[in-house]
Amino acid sequence: MSQKVWSGRFQKQPEDWVDEFNASIPFDQQLVDEDIEGSIAHVTMLMDNKILTSEEGNKILGGLHSLADKAKSKELTYSTSLEDIHCNLEKLLTDEVGEIGGKLHTGRSRNDQVATDMHLYLKRRVLEIIESIEELQENLLVQAEEHVYTIMPGYTHLQRAQPISFSHHLMAYFWMLERDKDRMKNGLERIDLCPLGAGALAGTTYPIDRLQTAEILGFQGIYENSMDAVSDRDFILEFLSNSSILMMHLSRFAEELILWTSQEFNFVELDDTFTTGSSIMPQKKNPDMAELVRGKTGRVYGNLFSLLTVLKGLPLAYNKDMQEDKEGMFDTVETTKGSLKIFAGMVGTMKVNKASMEKAVDEDFSNATELADYLATKGIPFRQAHEIVGQLVLYCIQNNCYLKDLSISQFKEASTLIENDIYDVLSPKMAVERRNSYGGTGFDQVKEQLIKAKKKLKQG
Ligand code: ARG
Repeated sequence: MSQKVWSGRFQKQPEDWVDEFNASIPFDQQLVDEDIEGSIAHVTMLMDNKILTSEEGNKILGGLHSLADKAKSKELTYSTSLEDIHCNLEKLLTDEVGEIGGKLHTGRSRNDQVATDMHLYLKRRVLEIIESIEELQENLLVQAEEHVYTIMPGYTHLQRAQPISFSHHLMAYFWMLERDKDRMKNGLERIDLCPLGAGALAGTTYPIDRLQTAEILGFQGIYENSMDAVSDRDFILEFLSNSSILMMHLSRFAEELILWTSQEFNFVELDDTFTTGSSIMPQKKNPDMAELVRGKTGRVYGNLFSLLTVLKGLPLAYNKDMQEDKEGMFDTVETTKGSLKIFAGMVGTMKVNKASMEKAVDEDFSNATELADYLATKGIPFRQAHEIVGQLVLYCIQNNCYLKDLSISQFKEASTLIENDIYDVLSPKMAVERRNSYGGTGFDQVKEQLIKAKKKLKQG
């Protein structure tokens, strides 16, 4: 068993199973790069401010760089009895450079150290997530450009509502993702703050330079209050919340893909590479990846709630409960990145069954609003027009036909205002084309959206 960094005051050691319960090293070893970088910045600052001599500092720096290399080639081994990545690295450093390694922790606590690691780690991952969102948006755009004139039923209550352009439907997700990206970017403002130098909670007596360490580490700013710096995890909560919203969007999209690939809809076929088969039913092609994204949304929500609950009763400043901030954050990073990557692949390779969508919209009543609007523009109050069309729809249902199948005399029986041009008006293509209000599904509007979306993506 390795000696603990805090062993001095103790007469007995915890048993192994207690050490195991206490340890975060099984998961916080993911912070190894950030922890070493934080230490390098800290030692550099200690040297520059004459808190360590340059001989001491350079020796420690040499050791830290060597640890960084070993971390890269996965040569470092950790011990559970050393609790976490911080104590493990300190021990590995003293193995490397001798007792002088013990000076690394001058003017620093694990409390500001771990918070710094988390900020650095999350900043990097959020930037990667932003990139992954953009990849998905790009693939969405490619499909949307291809399908401006592909017409499908739009739904409300999952009942056929009005014909829409498939491109319009896809673009709805583009804009949701755009806001997800904005939320992630905005959250970066709080992630990009450096807690290093806050010490355990109260700052330090050493003449440290917090701005210098923050600058070396590439942070935009520093925490103003040392207690705040080490005791809050709102920057992680915000990330978990932003990820939950993003996953909620992906989950709704996943649900639609699952519906659309069913034989009942048959609107879309996912590429073989994003589906699986059944061990018993040879005909099956299951949308497992979409289902998993939908399912994994649950764990991301769970991670948000778990951390909110961990933090809610904690007195200031650091409490060991806060070690529980890590697994949920790591898991959310992995889940969100993975889901975005899967989605980009699925959307990029999916085949759209245009004929099936158009057949659906040809054989339904999603053009009923067209007829009501037609009557309303001829002066009939919309409510009355609605009633007339409702009765015609009922007649069609009872007689097993659609509005377009009614003869002109049948139309005229319902209202003498209806002329021959009604058949054009009832065509789904016209229905889409004429919805040319700003942001509507009209082809011109959709093309405008595509131009704006491309511009947005270019701006990054
Ligand atoms: N492993 C700890 C964590 O993740 C590091 C900070 C420990 N600080 C302390 N005072 N015990 O929170």
